[in-house]
Amino acid sequence: MIEVSPRGKDSASRAVSNKIAERLADLYPGAKILRHDLAAEHLPHLDGTTLRAISTRDPVEEESLKASAHQSDQLTNELLESDLLVMATPMWNFGIPSALKAWIDLVVRPGRTFQYSDSGVLGLAKNKKAILVLASGGVFTEGPWRSWDFVEPYLRQILAFIGIVDVQTVRIEGMNIPPLAATALLRAHQALGELSL
Ligand SMILES: Cc1cc2nc3c(=O)[nH]c(=O)nc-3n(C[C@H](O)[C@H](O)[C@H](O)COP(=O)(O)O)c2cc1C
Repeated sequence: MIEVSPRGKDSASRAVSNKIAERLADLYPGAKILRHDLAAEHLPHLDGTTLRAISTRDPVEEESLKASAHQSDQLTNELLESDLLVMATPMWNFGIPSALKAWIDLVVRPGRTFQYSDSGVLGLAKNKKAILVLASGGVFTEGPWRSWDFVEPYLRQILAFIGIVDVQTVRIEGMNIPPLAATALLRAHQALGELSL
C-alpha cells in the first residue's frame, strides 16, 4: 500500500486507503499488509550513482554499487512479491506528487519489473491487482476538466508497462467544490463495496 498525501488525518485519499486496509485485514486475516507512507519516507530522486547501480549490466560494477541499489532492490522485491498494490494519492497540479514519482522511478526497472524483448516490452510484475485511490479538488471523470487528468491515465499506463493490468479506481473528487466535497468521501466509501478485493 502506497500512501502519498502529507495531510495525515485530513487526507481524503488516506481516509479511503485506511478503509481498504481494514477490509483487507478482515477478508485476509493472515495477509501481510505493507504500508509505505511516502510523505514520511522521503524517497530520494534517482541520482547518477543509483541510476548506474540499478541499470548496469556489468556484474563487477553491479557488485561494487550494490549498496546504492539497495533501496530500489527492496521496493522492487516487495512489489514483485505482492498480490495487490493500493496506491492512494492526491492530484497535485494535475499530476502525481513527486514523492510518488520517486517511488515509481525506483521500481520501474529493466530486468526487474520490465524487460525488452523481440516482441516489444514485457511487463514482469505479473498476476497482481492494483487499486488507485485518487483524490482531487476538481472533477475529472466527466466534464470540461477530463482531459486535464494526468493522474489516472499515467498510473494505468505505467502499471500496464510493468505488467499490472487488473486496475480498479476509487475517486474522491470535487474536494475543492463545497457541495461535492460534502459527499465525496461518502460516495467513495460506498464505491468500496463494488471493489473486487
Ligand atoms: C499542492 C496542491 C496542488 C493541487 N493541485 C490540484 C490540481 O491540479 N487539481 C485538482 O483538482 N486539485 C488539486 N489540489 C487539491 C487536492 O487534489 C485535493 O485537496 C485532494 O483532496 C488532496 O488529497 P488528500 O486529501 O488525500 O491530501 C491540489 C492540492 C495541493 C495541496
